[in-house]
Amino acid sequence: MRRAVLFVSPLIVAAVWTVTASLVTLWGLGTLELVGWPTWQWWGYLFTAMPDAGTQERVNQWLLTGSIAGTLTAASLAYRIISDSSVMFGRGGRALFGSLKYATPKDGRKAGLIYVRRPRPDCILLGRTAGLLGRFWRYVCLPGVQHVILYAKTGSGKGVAYVIANCFNYTDSLVVLDLKNENYRATAGHRAAVLGQEVFRFSPLDKNGATHCWNPLGGIDASQPDYISKLQQRAFSFFPETYGKEKFWQDGARSAFLGISILVCETPGMPLNPARVFRFFTSGSGTDELIRLIEAARQARQPYTQTCVDLISDYLNGTDEVVKGIRKHVTSTMGLWFNPKIAAATEHSDFSLGDLRRKRMTIYIGVMPADLEQLGVLLRLLFLQLFEANTDVMPQEDSTITHRCHVLLDEFTAIPVMRTIAEAVGFARGFGLQFSFVMQSKNQIHEKYRNNGAASLLENAGAEIVFGTDNHQLCKEVSERAGYDTVENVSRTTPRFFSLFRAREQNENTSQTRRALILPQEVSGLPQTEEIMFRASAPPFRLKRLCWYSDASFKNLKQTPAELPTVRYKLALDDGSIQLSHGKIA
Ligand SMILES: Nc1ncnc2c1ncn2[C@@H]1O[C@H](COP(=O)(O)OP(=O)(O)OP(=O)(O)O)[C@@H](O)[C@H]1O
Ligand SMILES: [Mg+2]
Repeated sequence: MRRAVLFVSPLIVAAVWTVTASLVTLWGLGTLELVGWPTWQWWGYLFTAMPDAGTQERVNQWLLTGSIAGTLTAASLAYRIISDSSVMFGRGGRALFGSLKYATPKDGRKAGLIYVRRPRPDCILLGRTAGLLGRFWRYVCLPGVQHVILYAKTGSGKGVAYVIANCFNYTDSLVVLDLKNENYRATAGHRAAVLGQEVFRFSPLDKNGATHCWNPLGGIDASQPDYISKLQQRAFSFFPETYGKEKFWQDGARSAFLGISILVCETPGMPLNPARVFRFFTSGSGTDELIRLIEAARQARQPYTQTCVDLISDYLNGTDEVVKGIRKHVTSTMGLWFNPKIAAATEHSDFSLGDLRRKRMTIYIGVMPADLEQLGVLLRLLFLQLFEANTDVMPQEDSTITHRCHVLLDEFTAIPVMRTIAEAVGFARGFGLQFSFVMQSKNQIHEKYRNNGAASLLENAGAEIVFGTDNHQLCKEVSERAGYDTVENVSRTTPRFFSLFRAREQNENTSQTRRALILPQEVSGLPQTEEIMFRASAPPFRLKRLCWYSDASFKNLKQTPAELPTVRYKLALDDGSIQLSHGKIA
């Protein structure tokens, strides 16, 4: 705008000079009526030779008079433009309340974003520019390994505008928390057939049992030198550190779980999975079996490790109340494994989370919103293990790490709090692990992660996107964060009647005033097609949202995904090991 004014103003001043000079010259020479409208006639008289010296002298006189009149008029106009537009021309000092506009592509490029006509498959797509008359727009892409936070209320189009578009586009490994399986249905076929990736869907509660399997205790066997450390790490994922009244039972349950996991791991031919470990806590003969296994191993001179026996004896040698309390604590935490469907889906692993940066693969974690609560423990285990398995070694130190991994967490706040991830997103980048956290409002982060890494999560985002939201606090925050612009406020005083004829009584005052770049009500009323985006070291961005089903780059990419394996399980019948006493189960 400022550039346009700078360019147009001299042209206007020159035109006014020419017309005024022509008007005066024509009037003086008496040819005004003949010509009608003065335009550039002054220049015509200047370059035309007159037939005789007398006429020439008269014309010269009026050319001079015309030029003086033109100069006076143009000079006063120029003075008016310059004095009134000091802010516009950038010569009026600093704008009183700051001067702010939405980021331009130039600002975006300076801040490290990429503007392209075709979506870049190595980037996260953030939105697109408005273009000119709906054409010549560009995708706005976030390169490298950076995290994104998206705030959008339910049904506002985060799926069509962000999640699905990025599932189609991102060519490195991808893990998606896929509520309702809609991302799987839309994008799995494309990722397998066109991007050539191994595609998995882990949906343990699928009503037809159509799921790949994943074993939270998988990938560990007694031949590995550090299998006890790995099992200890897993035990912490099942039973994380707690404080207060819970601590005693949580610590006891973790030790017992670790001891039994080591025993299962060291027992030849016994599969190590949560259901098998859990059975030792729930079965009436679990304790006897533990003792029998340890005795048998001693007699066969292939004893278990001392750590294993110490942990198990620590568990079994407690008082009756303590042993019962620990068992109760384990069964309430791992209650999910009472469900035979879960037990079957976590029996073995069809994929390894440690492979995510070693080959291109996609994992959809299919969960129905109603199952979120029930699957909480399993989801926490999966994401923690994903994080641990991919932040163990830097890409520079291991030549087998050749890809990045994007973890797209739709409804991030609906899954259990994962303090480790929230606190460590900052350094995850160095490992080639990037996250997208999609949630309904910033409040949810403050509520759930108040003392669990909220600050780290919010500070480490490469881009924060807001779709229209009804959350009053978020609207206010976005408005305040977008900042203020200085605008000219013109106030006029005019007489109530016949103002046209009472010019002297009219008054006009111009003052600078502050105006939010976007008001809270404008945030909440943001059109369905637009979004506000924040990125460090750039003004706020006002972008168009993507829409995969109408976007030429994506709309034809949907393919039917390959059929999933089906998990089969048998409902076990009562084996009689649990003693019933006084009408109760002991
Ligand atoms: N393929 C499609 N064709 C036409 N409209 C669609 C298509 N997919 C989704 N929509 C519509 O787009 C809108 C936004 O859907 P979307 O699933 O992206 O919302 P969302 O914010 O992810 O919702 P939720 O919180 O329920 O997951 C919905 O009104 C939906 O009906
Ligand atoms: Mg959705």
